[in-house]
Amino acid sequence: MKVTVVGAGAVGASCAEYIAIKDFASEVVIVDIKEGFAEGKAMDLMQCASLNGFDTKITGSTSDYSKTAGSDVAVITSGIPRKPGMTREELIGINAGIVKDVCSNILKHSPDAIIIVVSNPMDTMAYLAHKVTGLSRNRVIGMGGALDSARFKYRLAEALECPQSDVDGMVIGGHSDVGMVPLIEKAARNSVKVSEFLSTERMQEVVEATKVGGATLTGLLGTSAWYAPGAAVSALVQAIAQDSQKMFPCSALLDGEYGLSDISIGVPCVLGKNGIERIVEVSLSDAESSKLAESAEGVRKTNGLLDSVLA
Ligand code: LAC
Repeated sequence: MKVTVVGAGAVGASCAEYIAIKDFASEVVIVDIKEGFAEGKAMDLMQCASLNGFDTKITGSTSDYSKTAGSDVAVITSGIPRKPGMTREELIGINAGIVKDVCSNILKHSPDAIIIVVSNPMDTMAYLAHKVTGLSRNRVIGMGGALDSARFKYRLAEALECPQSDVDGMVIGGHSDVGMVPLIEKAARNSVKVSEFLSTERMQEVVEATKVGGATLTGLLGTSAWYAPGAAVSALVQAIAQDSQKMFPCSALLDGEYGLSDISIGVPCVLGKNGIERIVEVSLSDAESSKLAESAEGVRKTNGLLDSVLA
């Protein structure tokens, strides 16, 4: 499998690193507009190969998409990240233009690529990618839910004082501080609902800490996070590469699922060699359904800002 990662910033580089370390791809090409930056990151990563024991070939390119030709998967991380105090939605003006151009450059050289969108505001950027490419909906995947679910598991394990491998939980909805819907009622420790172990107040704290997971890190780091975003992307790419049929919440273009249409938002998806193999409709409680509907309203509002880009 050949993977293109557009954007050699912290998220793109970390994503390339995790893909390489897991050693399932034959080649990763990193592209960036900053002269020599992607080449430098690729060279640095390649010098880890003998130490970390991988054979994945990593190369870099300054804006030359011909090097990405024949990619099976392309990950879009390009655009500006948020600074402390900023919402993901505030990035739309700059990032929309970038994502639109990147999509067309990718498809020019890799017409069969599956596109994974990471740039923020992610659900709107995934929707934009659908609109500008016209690809079938299995081929554009927004990465947010996998990351938010990993952050949910971190917070659940912290509250339960147990290892993360003991917990299971999923976050659906929009990838935004207000839009995330951590499915706390369904979260479990070894099949036992977490409500058996945690008070309602503590569960609510877990939910709130999960929703501001990215903002908390932006406050600490001065820019947005990269390790967990990179790991989350690499998990999605791996599921596609290995046709694993694993389920992740991803931002998918909906066509009636969950009562929603013409919107890309986080819902459980089974991933395999065709990208999104299947959208899974799980039964939601009334509270979960109304939170998802509210989240969709927020995403639609941000999508409305795309009018000038789509015109
Ligand atoms: C975050 C960015 C990647 O949540 O959206 O860290």
